[in-house]
Amino acid sequence: MLKKINKCHNTKDFRKLAKKRLPSPIFHYIDGGSDDEVTYRRNTESFEECDLVPNVLAGVENIDMSTEIMGKKIDMPIFLAPTALQRLFHHDGEKAVARAAQKFNTMFGVSSLGTTSIEDIDKEINTPKLFQLYVHKDKGLTRNMIDRCKEANFDAMALTVDTIVGGNRERDLYTGFTYPPKLTFKSLFSFAWHLDWSLNFLMRSKFELSQIKDYINEGTSLAINVGDYFTKMIDQSMDWKAAEEINKLWGKKFALKGIMSVEDARKAVDIGASTIILSNHGGRQLDGSRTPFDQLSEIVDAVGHKIEIVCEGGIRRGTHILKALSLGANACSGGRFYLYALAAGGQAGVERALSNIKSEILRDMKLMGVNNISQLSKKNIRFR
Ligand code: LAC
Repeated sequence: MLKKINKCHNTKDFRKLAKKRLPSPIFHYIDGGSDDEVTYRRNTESFEECDLVPNVLAGVENIDMSTEIMGKKIDMPIFLAPTALQRLFHHDGEKAVARAAQKFNTMFGVSSLGTTSIEDIDKEINTPKLFQLYVHKDKGLTRNMIDRCKEANFDAMALTVDTIVGGNRERDLYTGFTYPPKLTFKSLFSFAWHLDWSLNFLMRSKFELSQIKDYINEGTSLAINVGDYFTKMIDQSMDWKAAEEINKLWGKKFALKGIMSVEDARKAVDIGASTIILSNHGGRQLDGSRTPFDQLSEIVDAVGHKIEIVCEGGIRRGTHILKALSLGANACSGGRFYLYALAAGGQAGVERALSNIKSEILRDMKLMGVNNISQLSKKNIRFR
């Protein structure tokens, strides 16, 4: 397996390997976007519509790519965005991802729909930890997750604000992606074909949604797809006042994840959030919405001096990160780039993905003629 992982030089390679390893409903859950997947594709394409302008003869033998985000120094300017259901992609799930993040000293995000508990993550790593909060209709559940994160010394919380209803993820409708998996003729064939995955799934410790299982039935059986889950479970009355209350209740570094407009970025400053994560949920929610990278400049101009800004979505290359940092992002985050690697090879896969991207950033910084990321600025970038 290690041999195959070592042949993965980029996200495309990991995606190919993940596709081989996973039963098709699981692969398409990770890989898919909403409606026509226009936004999903645009997320990466938007990085390709501008070019870097390097400087040379800059003395680049020493490079520092560290940055500070949500009160924590991280050794590389990209962190692992919180994503759901990781034990479905590899039996070690969040623990594998967290350990890999710890090795590279970057932030690890765990989801409200995670399959490893807040407490177990705390036991596993002592590097920066972010908890991603979905505000459920059940107020007790939301409160409980916040309390548990305090107890487990999480460093920061990100309230996701772009899933007020579920996106229309048609791949999940075609494949019947639910838990337990819907066994159609086609999916049964796919599970049988991926025997390694299926045996691991049946033999290893039971799959559960560890943060929510004591509150709702869906905690051990997600009989509806994730889009429908959001529509059914998320508190649609959530507004700015509610976000402000959660920030107060939490009392530590607080991010809003899924901010896309200047108006909302300003409101995030007003409620005292420390950070905004520009994101369209990996193109899985509102198809046809703009990309975080395309929105970055106007948001940096409006609030960059008052709040931290993370750019998320479509990042596949070190140069994408350098472009976002040049426009004023404090850091980047990503999901699929490490999820494919998790599916392809567990912790070793995620480590390889992080090592690939770290080498790219290092090489690209040297070729750009910068020693640290604060030297990147709008001067190094041109839109065509
Ligand atoms: C997703 C959620 C759970 O499937 O983040 O996009």
